Amino acid sequence: MTELSRRGNHVPARTDWTYAPAPESRDVVSLRERYGLFVGGEWLDPGESYVTLSPATEEPLAEVGQATAAEVELAVSAAREAFTPWAKLAGSERAKYLFRIARLLQERSREFAVLESLNGGKPIKESRDVDIPLAAAHFFYYAGWADKLEYAFPNRQPRPLGVAGQIIPWNFPLLMLSWKIAPALAAGNTVVLKPAETTPLTALLFCDVVRQAELPPGVINIVTGDGRTGAALVDGEVDKIAFTGSTDVGKAIARRLAGTGKKVTLELGGKAANIVFEDAAIDQAVEGIVNGIYFNQGHVCCAGSRLFVQESVAEDVVDKLKRRMTTLRVGDPLDKNTDVGAINSKAQLEKIEELVAAGREEGAEIYQPPCVLPEKGYWFAPTVFTNVAQSYRIAQEEIFGPVLSVLTFRTPEEAVEKANNTPYGLSAGVWTEKGSRILWMAERLRAGVVWANTYNRFDPTSPFGGYKESGYGREGGLHGLAPYLNGES
Ligand code: NAI
Ligand code: MG
Repeated sequence: MTELSRRGNHVPARTDWTYAPAPESRDVVSLRERYGLFVGGEWLDPGESYVTLSPATEEPLAEVGQATAAEVELAVSAAREAFTPWAKLAGSERAKYLFRIARLLQERSREFAVLESLNGGKPIKESRDVDIPLAAAHFFYYAGWADKLEYAFPNRQPRPLGVAGQIIPWNFPLLMLSWKIAPALAAGNTVVLKPAETTPLTALLFCDVVRQAELPPGVINIVTGDGRTGAALVDGEVDKIAFTGSTDVGKAIARRLAGTGKKVTLELGGKAANIVFEDAAIDQAVEGIVNGIYFNQGHVCCAGSRLFVQESVAEDVVDKLKRRMTTLRVGDPLDKNTDVGAINSKAQLEKIEELVAAGREEGAEIYQPPCVLPEKGYWFAPTVFTNVAQSYRIAQEEIFGPVLSVLTFRTPEEAVEKANNTPYGLSAGVWTEKGSRILWMAERLRAGVVWANTYNRFDPTSPFGGYKESGYGREGGLHGLAPYLNGES
């Protein structure tokens, strides 16, 4: 409760600065009770369905389709039928549709942001300021390339592949949709996209945008369902599969597609090293560490989940980090002051709990700031482990939650060796005042993206993708168009 104390006998001053609740209104979103599959521009009534929840309250939100193999095939046929006229359309005409989609996403951004937070559990300030603006930015960016493919790939006569099957995860639902759909359409392909089973609602709302933009029917098809629907899409009559998700499923898809002639790009997990040198601006680095691992509850493939701190400043950095963690506000995703929202699903919460238990058992020291977690829903407090050895599971495996493992190093060589000691290679962060050291590190880190004195920055013009078990192929930038094109070189 607010305590008032008196300064002299004049102005009462608050001593307790607790925020009042600042919930974003849900009224802007109108949910249907039941959603169909979006096939050929129409809503197809699904044979089977399931209920999608709010992970923050476990409240049922809507019933959505669990598409069968036969229903997936209908979507693929619709995409096939739409392909030739779409591919023949002048690039400048395709661009118009993409620009329209981008503008509609901007116009309806509040509605999308609220729905994203409601269905996925991420803080509204992230869906509002990161997910939705970036989703629109990807459509704007690729709209710009649609009529310039000849310049993008000179002397290659770039041609679209045909129908792209696209399977996306639940951590950035609308953003991953736009990473997949925008370049595919700009290049002249048509698509069948499957959102993740826990977060289908913004993809279904997106179908409304597709209709508003008057896109020719069949160019974008959305089928909801779990891994069985995804597997049916992989086996369908598609020309390419683009997948973002777990390494296990990525490997299974690669095996399944070997020898079929279908193209494939995989964006899989990560266990990124965020490396802090003793000369770094420590307070800024601490902000970067927090953003690196607690952004989106750590449900981020490129999360900075392994922190490497130079030994001379380790104590200072860990102290400051712990102090900063006590100010993180965990709770209602729709509250504008929330920093850490709900864990996306019960299954993901169980995975986090299992790995955290393993960390304790193996001997790491755990710290969690005091915070009261809501009773209903799926929650996990921001967590940091110190005294972590390289061999511990929490230093090796992707946790995909708000859990940081801290390790130390003495020399730059040792930092590189430890950072690269992982089966993954998606991203890394380097914190130092020395420009030459940034370049030296970036050359040696086996990671697709290396951030310097910042973390988790995304831009549609910049390619993103992994080394080793983090997958292959790039998304974003010019590199992100290439996997959607054939061309003689
Ligand atoms: P997942 O890989 O099972 O799911 C990702 C997508 O693939 C979903 O749309 C899912 O329905 C689909 N899928 C599942 N099985 C499939 C199959 N056999 N064929 C085709 N599609 C299939 O990931 P899950 O189970 O949700 O999460 C498990 C772990 O994976 C997480 O804890 C995290 O470590 C990692 N992960 C990494 C992501 C990334 O961005 N790189 C995203 C999601 C999860
Ligand atoms: Mg799975």
